[in-house]
Amino acid sequence: MVATGVQTYQNYIGGAWIDARGGGTIENRNPANPSDLIGLWPRSTAVGMTAAIDAAVAAAPGWAGTSALKRGEILLRAAALLEARVAEVAADMTREEGKTGREATGETLRGVAILRYYAGEGAQPIGEVYPSANTRTMLYTMHVPLGVVGVITPWNFPVAIPLWKIAPALLYGNTVVFKPAELTPLTATKLVKILEEAGLPKGVLNMVVGYGDEVGPALTSDPRVTGVSFTGSNRVGRAIQRVVEERGGKAQLELGGKNPVVVLADADLDQAAALTVQGAMMSAGQKCTATSRAIVERAVLEPFTRKVVERVNALVTGDGADEATTVSPLVSAAQRDRVKGYLDLARAEDVETLAGGGLLEGPEYHGGYFVRPTVYANVRPESRLAQEEIFGPVVGIIPADDYEEAVRIANGVRFGLAASIFTRDIAKGLRFTQDIQAGIVHINGETAGAEPQVPFGGMKESSSFSREQGKAAAHFFTQLKTIYLDQPTTPHPAPAPRDPAEPTDAAG
Ligand code: UN1
Repeated sequence: MVATGVQTYQNYIGGAWIDARGGGTIENRNPANPSDLIGLWPRSTAVGMTAAIDAAVAAAPGWAGTSALKRGEILLRAAALLEARVAEVAADMTREEGKTGREATGETLRGVAILRYYAGEGAQPIGEVYPSANTRTMLYTMHVPLGVVGVITPWNFPVAIPLWKIAPALLYGNTVVFKPAELTPLTATKLVKILEEAGLPKGVLNMVVGYGDEVGPALTSDPRVTGVSFTGSNRVGRAIQRVVEERGGKAQLELGGKNPVVVLADADLDQAAALTVQGAMMSAGQKCTATSRAIVERAVLEPFTRKVVERVNALVTGDGADEATTVSPLVSAAQRDRVKGYLDLARAEDVETLAGGGLLEGPEYHGGYFVRPTVYANVRPESRLAQEEIFGPVVGIIPADDYEEAVRIANGVRFGLAASIFTRDIAKGLRFTQDIQAGIVHINGETAGAEPQVPFGGMKESSSFSREQGKAAAHFFTQLKTIYLDQPTTPHPAPAPRDPAEPTDAAG
């Protein structure tokens, strides 16, 4: 049933806002109060996706032929437009994704910083000059666009992740087909409107809203889409990788995590407890970088655990739009049910529950998808609770005899995204940076968080080796051309004897 006054939104294809052709609509609801219907978005089909790819293909030569300085200027204008609308975009984000106003504001400001960073990259070198075997040859490389790229993004960072893929994709001269998560299409729509207003030519950025299994294959299997960048689940990510690589395309994946903090006996326990709770509970634990395991030297197990539980008990779970809320709802009923499956598992396995362990229901919760912030003690390192990504406000405490055992446990999972160690011993901290299998390592810091100017990505099953953000983004969103430039000479002198592997010494 469609409530009166509910707005219907559109796809953005070839510079026009248009209705999906067939397929119906998708409801977008507030996870803190699902009776709040935010709007209706197209439930697009392969037809809409193919139209978006057609538009991106048509716009590709013009955009690749536009100066990177000019592309950077457009991103800079978008940064200013987004900055002027931080409060509005953050409020939209809280309403459709759930995260607290404070976190939504922080993420939107991060989006501004990402746009500014890539605007600046527009004036940076795009190649290198090399010495040649022939002193007269000018030998250099150039990063050139891939062409059309697909960007498939999750709901948990509905501003930051789309921007950290779309901004470099555009800056390096690609045209984009953007498939945002169907749970957060409002912030996606706002971002696209801002980039449109900033002056992107028609067809350079296109957005198609729909369910991944209904529109995804038309994007990932189209041979005209050279690269696909995806953040989301391992199951979907690996399937995308198979399809894209099978047809000779390039895939970039950011997948799950099971991120540990290691707490050594000499740590500042207040700092360690505060940042463990922050890393585990902010965004209700719905970050691939969230802290999921606290591996603690036995000597400080009791005081550390007490401090964590005190802090978790002081958290306020509720609607992210309320100032007092520190822990938001989960994004959807499906996510809540997934997390509840792990809480039920812990109960079935008699895992010691120090805080939380269930859902928050009752009239004051308006049917929202609330999970109580949960702390488990003595979690067995090989148990499912300690091995699988939960994506909820849940942290397991795992005792360890010493540093060596802690690192063994930390590395004993299939993921390797982020990790942290708390210690005052800088030598142990540095050793940890070498021993830990993780793409992002912190000493005395939270596992979550990512600055735009440095590479972001994980090891093992967390990623696909390529890195996002910073200068690393150019490796994914471009391909390299090597150029040998020689003078025309007439008459052509006879070549001197030479190694056949060397370049032609045309000038003699
Ligand atoms: C962060 O920790 O601030 O999907 C960013 C995710 C990650 C991004 C984390 N790709 O949660």
